[in-house]
Amino acid sequence: MPPESSLWQCFNEKAREIFQNYNYQEIIIPIAEDAGLFSRSLGRDSEVVEKQMFLIPRKDSTLALRPEGTASVIRSFLENNLDKKTPFVKLYYIGPMFRAERPQKGRLRQFNHIGAEVIGSSNSLIDAEIIALCCDLLDSFGIKGYKIRLNSLGSSKEKQELAKALRKTLKPKLKKFCKDCESRFNRNVFRLLDCKNETCRNNIKSLNLSAEDYLSVESLNHFRKVRLSLDSLGVKYDYDPCLVRGLDYYTGTVFEIAHPNLGAQDAIGAGGRYDNLVKELGGPETCAIGFALGVERLMLAADSRPDADFSDLILYIAAMGEEACKKSFLLASGLRKAGVSVEVDYEDRRLDKKISRASKSGAKFLGILGEDELKKDAISIKDLRKGTQDQVPAKVDSLRSRLC
Ligand code: HAM
Repeated sequence: MPPESSLWQCFNEKAREIFQNYNYQEIIIPIAEDAGLFSRSLGRDSEVVEKQMFLIPRKDSTLALRPEGTASVIRSFLENNLDKKTPFVKLYYIGPMFRAERPQKGRLRQFNHIGAEVIGSSNSLIDAEIIALCCDLLDSFGIKGYKIRLNSLGSSKEKQELAKALRKTLKPKLKKFCKDCESRFNRNVFRLLDCKNETCRNNIKSLNLSAEDYLSVESLNHFRKVRLSLDSLGVKYDYDPCLVRGLDYYTGTVFEIAHPNLGAQDAIGAGGRYDNLVKELGGPETCAIGFALGVERLMLAADSRPDADFSDLILYIAAMGEEACKKSFLLASGLRKAGVSVEVDYEDRRLDKKISRASKSGAKFLGILGEDELKKDAISIKDLRKGTQDQVPAKVDSLRSRLC
């Protein structure tokens, strides 16, 4: 709803500008895809696939409303042979995602992502650049106080070894975990690491997990370089060995950005590497990394709420009487064609009421067209910020140069 919709658009526009600075190009992905694409990419046991997909059964297949963008981007990348044409691609997308969750503050069934994917590089500088890009986006939205958590999951082989080790360590302690964790244990042991239940969190904390225990020298080196590059940019983050992310495709660097304004659903964005997904979806071995910010959560995190100041309206004309209305009607049409935003108050009400509406509208100028102005073929213009007032000929050109 307005005026919040202006803030929403403003985030999208700023995001486009920043993506351009980083040389990303826009990809427009479909709203519905074959459901199998998501189960293959995100994992059959991931919460999103297991519980949250809106499915549309068809005669010989099932479609799903997209719960996220990464799988679709990689499917499009392969379908359009980009792997053969351009070995390095940087794409961004802005649009709605759908997850059948129980709605609550910050958790919606339809929400929007501002996301990006970089396909074709394993360089650790790209990991750091992606995180820095998230910070640039958040800074440009005026969001302060966010915290970045960072971890590395290692290659898929290391991930499997970690899963094995976790199962071994956690099996005897399983009774101390919540019912959900008990059932997650066999299907996806990583999900025990980011359970929100306080007791489960404490149990996991006491394991004192550390990347050094399960990452190879190569993965540790990559992770060290990512951290050094972030340090060199002055990007602050916390290393969190329990950060695993709920989607199966992640390997290597993973990160999540949280904001204290949000309460239980505090992640405003997240991302990471998924170096196996292109291959798993039928392409060649290709490294990739990306992220997505949740626009509605960004709006909850934004300190300043939108108000009338958010309006782009330049002129609010208070037209007094039938003649003045007709004249304002024509003037407004000419001004709008000349690129000036105009609102005309045609209603039959007192001038003071129209003036108060003009102030609430957020317009920069109030134009008054009454009997006196009609006689002089002029319009009174009041600068609503400075409080100054003068009269200008009631002509599109004169008004335009007075207002802009
Ligand atoms: P995700 O963590 O599932 O990652 O979603 C990213 C962000 O979307 C979350 O941090 C949150 O802000 C927002 N979000 C998720 N679910 C909801 C919801 N139900 N209501 C409101 N906001 C929500 C992904 O989707 C990955 N595709 C990110 C990525 C891109 N990783 C690599 N490339």
